[in-house]
Amino acid sequence: MSRLIVVSNRVAPITEGKSTAGGLVVGVLDALRETGGIWLGWSGDISGEPSTAPVTETVDNIDFCTIPLTQRDYDRYYRGFSNGVLWPTFHYRIDLSQYNGEDYKGYVEVNQRFAALLATLAQPTDRLWVHDYHLIPLAQACREQGLDNRIGFFLHIPFPSPSVLRTIPRHRELVLALCQYDLVGFQTQGDTQAFVDYATRHLDGVLEGDILQVGERRIRVGSYPIGIHPDQVKTLSKQSARSKQLDALKAGLQHRKLIVSVDRLDYSKGLVQRFDAFDCLLETAPQHRGKVTLVQIAPPSRQDVQGYRQIRRQLESAAGRINGKWTELSWTPIRYMNRSYERSLLMSFFRASQVGLVTPMRDGMNLVAKEYIASQPADDPGVLVLSEFAGAAAEMQDGAIMVNPFDTKAMADGLDLALRMPLQQRKKRYEHLMEVLRANDLSRWRDRFLGDLES
Ligand code: ADP
Ligand code: F6P
Repeated sequence: MSRLIVVSNRVAPITEGKSTAGGLVVGVLDALRETGGIWLGWSGDISGEPSTAPVTETVDNIDFCTIPLTQRDYDRYYRGFSNGVLWPTFHYRIDLSQYNGEDYKGYVEVNQRFAALLATLAQPTDRLWVHDYHLIPLAQACREQGLDNRIGFFLHIPFPSPSVLRTIPRHRELVLALCQYDLVGFQTQGDTQAFVDYATRHLDGVLEGDILQVGERRIRVGSYPIGIHPDQVKTLSKQSARSKQLDALKAGLQHRKLIVSVDRLDYSKGLVQRFDAFDCLLETAPQHRGKVTLVQIAPPSRQDVQGYRQIRRQLESAAGRINGKWTELSWTPIRYMNRSYERSLLMSFFRASQVGLVTPMRDGMNLVAKEYIASQPADDPGVLVLSEFAGAAAEMQDGAIMVNPFDTKAMADGLDLALRMPLQQRKKRYEHLMEVLRANDLSRWRDRFLGDLES
């Protein structure tokens, strides 16, 4: 029987009740729960040896097969090339990219180790579904191991335009490695187009329908926007309705309006610009002073990468400056928290708010935008203020208030509009967005991708 083997760098925490911030884990876990299968990835441990054997644990119908990394792997493959070069470049922050040939070598080596493991694990009829930028060379390494299974790749983050991609010295190798997959999927049509543009301009690729021919390789390409299970999220959002934490949040608000934002603490998420926009709102629309609170939940991420330490300092300084300027004895305008919350609690915070503020400078999709809408009460829904540079904008632009995160005043105006929006308009937008979320839910994402990989 054909099994599904999912491979990603990060896997869901096996311990019950532990939550991880990150769209890949949230999406893949929900998708795999229904189908069952094997999930192969890094255990999160960095005290391994290259020869350390994998550990397999079965939870529900998923076999989690994980290996540790060595400190050296972690430095070169994860911190160095994946998060020091691919992440910033794919998010258009080439100023933060720090290429180093040794890191690239380490990146390829870890991919080869995953491939060697797959060679011992996979049966010929198994389908392999590889996720995200850490594992671009995995299909190539698998082919070198003699595996000729169907292998699909899904990129959770944006794919940059060719001129940006070319700043990575190994750009050609990376795209040729992607061509070793049978199916390469992206979040949006724009990302797919950027990949095809590179292949046609720099590799003499030819696109016919959704089949891209590059040299001898014929691969399928397409966009598969990741979704959520909107009704499950709604149920979750009601589960914590009586929790102490939600009560504490509401008590602190003292009937003020709530704007909520939830992101990993990442420079791609536009956090400083968002705080500045809130400051600008208080400056230019004095009627909101003392009447609204911004709650920003931002668990630290990748703190050993320099760009992340820097954004953390900048954000702390922005929060201090803005709160110093506006705080009154009975009102703190920005509540900024560096921690994770259990999923149902997070969704109940969304449900209790009037505005969801999701303003990344660039984002592959942004599941928070979708979770925010699904958590809303149908009879009194909150409003989503969304960046036009989030992948989610392609589906949600007709129901959200769209803003350009590079324009502080426009974001402040968007917030003002959201805070003042009459109930009828809010309901109309919410109903439209719920239709969009249901039509393109997480099962459809998985089924379309796997269906296309199969054919
Ligand atoms: P990314 O993958 O870049 O982190 P997404 O918005 O696509 O961004 O996905 C983030 C996921 O992580 C969402 O499902 C969100 O609910 C979850 N998440 C983000 N922050 C927290 C947090 N503080 N606590 C728990 N879950 C979080
Ligand atoms: O969804 C984007 C993503 O980069 C995933 O690949 C990753 O698992 C997640 O964000 C969180 O980042 P990290 O795994 O580096 O903690």
